[in-house]
Amino acid sequence: MSDAPQPEAPPQLFSQAFAADPYPAYAWLRTHAPVRWTRLPSGVEAWLVTRYADAKQALADPRLSKNPAHHAEPAGAEGRTGIPGERKAELMTHLLNIDPPDHTRLRRLVSKAFTPRRVAAFTPRVQELADRLIDGFAGRGSADLIHEFAFPLPIYAICDMLGVPAEDQDDFRDWAGMMIRHGGGPRGGVARSVKKMRGYLTELIHRKRSDLGDDLISGLIRASDHGEHLTENEAAAMCFVLLFAGFETTVNLIGNGTYALLTHPEQRRALAGSLARGERALLETGVEELLRFDGPVELATWRFATRPVELGGQRIAEGEPVLVVLAAADRDPERFARPDALDLSRRDNQHLGYGHGIHYCLGAPLARLEGQTALATLLRRLPDLGLAADPADLRWRGGLIMRGLRELPVAFTPAG
Ligand code: HEM
Repeated sequence: MSDAPQPEAPPQLFSQAFAADPYPAYAWLRTHAPVRWTRLPSGVEAWLVTRYADAKQALADPRLSKNPAHHAEPAGAEGRTGIPGERKAELMTHLLNIDPPDHTRLRRLVSKAFTPRRVAAFTPRVQELADRLIDGFAGRGSADLIHEFAFPLPIYAICDMLGVPAEDQDDFRDWAGMMIRHGGGPRGGVARSVKKMRGYLTELIHRKRSDLGDDLISGLIRASDHGEHLTENEAAAMCFVLLFAGFETTVNLIGNGTYALLTHPEQRRALAGSLARGERALLETGVEELLRFDGPVELATWRFATRPVELGGQRIAEGEPVLVVLAAADRDPERFARPDALDLSRRDNQHLGYGHGIHYCLGAPLARLEGQTALATLLRRLPDLGLAADPADLRWRGGLIMRGLRELPVAFTPAG
């Protein structure tokens, strides 16, 4: 049994209280309705999958397609179901919306450019970014860690990696801010930001074609597989998915992770102590545990049954959407000992925070680098960092896919 107290009655999902702490509701679902047909705030209905074993099976099941064209309820011109990707925008033909063989081809091409070696070479740059951002508020004694640290770090990191010139990176910061604040809905400001980003990326890719460098966009242009290259549209969609899949997720890894450390002082002390001794093992297992314990991706992105599928005793009909609740699966007591406890030294920790199967997070090595660098640098530079708000007053974003704080006020002794 999970330690999280379970509500007696079916919980109210997607309320404000749920956004602050969805885990008791997930415990109820895992026990009473592990695969449950649910109406989402947008009005779309989908199967929610909450047990670890079912979640893992669903993520790897080839009958569950990523292509929104398989959704039984056809979208109107505006994508009235609100399912991202149903709008036929060019940028939406990306890894998270396609199936093999197209997915296999594109993923193979991007993997040639976005290599673990490229990520490892980026380590000093991420360290420099983390230090520069902390320099910006260290003398003040207080900060909002979301706006001043967790938010800018990943956007500058991915811009640098892609090869977006420094003078254009603040535009990206604004567009990304707009997308995060308004949760990706099809409303005006977001649509305008996406449009601007698309225009900019298309132009940048075009320019780089004749002036290749050693950045990731140049790597994407160069990458070839059996003589095949990415088209310009495919390259733009690839940059877009790298930006949006790698941005808010990492903001929330840093934000949720710091919050968990600040509210678990013994764990935080153990981590600070091990870093002071020059060890990295607890940092490495710790960031994985923070992903399991309160990961940024609450639900994996949409899947649609192309054939009837039996899952957790339910029959999912062709065309029905399936949402795998990673946050619920990662607290499943059938899989994890003491699932509601934060244990940074946890070793048996095959969490689903990065997904599973062919869509497993492409950016996991970069996310790990950013998460580890951000948390270690905060603990080292601001040793008495503390929460400057009552946890009950913190506001969580109630988005469907992502889980994260709107702000994280902290206080510390100003550095001289
Ligand atoms: C896919 C989580 C950071 C790029 C995914 C998926 C998850 C995930 C759960 C699978 C979604 C599904 O199956 O529906 C995370 C988390 C991150 C993170 C928790 C940070 C802590 C990043 C970064 C990048 C990135 C930094 C790139 C710069 C991608 C891409 C995919 C993906 C391109 C699609 C892969 C495919 O469909 O083949 N991520 N991600 N992610 N992620 Fe991440």
